Amino acid sequence: ADKKRKQIFQLLTQATAFYQQQLRKHESRIEAARYLTKRGLSADIVKNYQLGLAPPGWDLLINHLIEANSSLSEDSVKKLAIEAGLLVENPENQRRYDRFRNRIMFPILDVRNRVIGFGGRVLGNSEDNKKQPKYLNSPETPVFHKGKELYGLTYAKKIFSQIPQLLVVEGYMDVVSLAQFDIHYAVATLGTACGQDHLELAFKHTQEVIFCFDGDKAGRNAAKRALENCLPTMQDGRQVKFLFLPEGEDPDTLVRQIGKDSFEQMIGKAVPLEEYLFDSVAENMNLATMEGRASLSKKVAPLINLLPKGIYRELMFSNLARR
Ligand code: GTP
Ligand code: MN
Ligand code: MN
Ligand code: MN
Ligand code: MN
Repeated sequence: ADKKRKQIFQLLTQATAFYQQQLRKHESRIEAARYLTKRGLSADIVKNYQLGLAPPGWDLLINHLIEANSSLSEDSVKKLAIEAGLLVENPENQRRYDRFRNRIMFPILDVRNRVIGFGGRVLGNSEDNKKQPKYLNSPETPVFHKGKELYGLTYAKKIFSQIPQLLVVEGYMDVVSLAQFDIHYAVATLGTACGQDHLELAFKHTQEVIFCFDGDKAGRNAAKRALENCLPTMQDGRQVKFLFLPEGEDPDTLVRQIGKDSFEQMIGKAVPLEEYLFDSVAENMNLATMEGRASLSKKVAPLINLLPKGIYRELMFSNLARR
């Protein structure tokens, strides 16, 4: 099993180098470069984040991997590539093909700096590529568990000896784009909700987590789920805040518009958990009435009970009583 993991890591490393090379060499590099420029990504950022290109075509990567691992049989490379999430096997006809095609590739590193999976974004507007999902992630593999990894954490760890705060955003593009504006403490969940494992990982590296989801309906729903998921992880000393972006913006679009300083000023005004917890529940309630207050209490108390026992929980209960 240990040997298997090693081989999977090796394939993922080879794939990363292959995608980077394709971004320099493949004929579709021109379209890819145009797209990266349109997204405002500099050559430095592309290099630092090891971004690459999965060209169109069904077997470019697998053929490369077979060649690069000539000590293994073709069939064992294919089996390994399937386990690594790089190759897909159609269960109906057993046809095997590259999972990532015609996409900008974001390697996902673990905190030990090893590539464990990829996120791939379709080139251009998903309107032009209607059948394709905008983002495709590696599936769960022996080395990749979406629910437990945060994209960008490795980079943040390299920059800071002590990470001051972690900004949890929705997308790879948000992390990379913020980094380009010298904001190096953003991390993204990998196309899943921010769960307790994500938060425990974040709190291993910092005491303050700020959720900054998109200014759209999906983003606001994500914030509500993040609220519930973070409560059990709120040991004393840990802090959670929520930053709500203007309608239609995400961290990427916003930082490009307003720049680093204004963006960080907004972060400074993020809403603390203790406020958001009450506000999100009280949204459609009339607290001027007794009924309204009773109903607030009925809904908030179970949330407070999700907090671990401690001073913070006591404070929240007295906060509720005061309200
Ligand atoms: P850009 O359009 O490149 O700026 O991406 P975005 O990160 O702003 O995407 P969006 O706000 O539309 O979606 C938020 C997040 O949901 C993305 O970052 C992805 O992680 C995820 N997501 C969006 N579309 C898809 C999809 O088609 N498939 C999967 N698996 N995840 C998606
Ligand atoms: Mn970063
Ligand atoms: Mn969105
Ligand atoms: Mn975006
Ligand atoms: Mn977005």
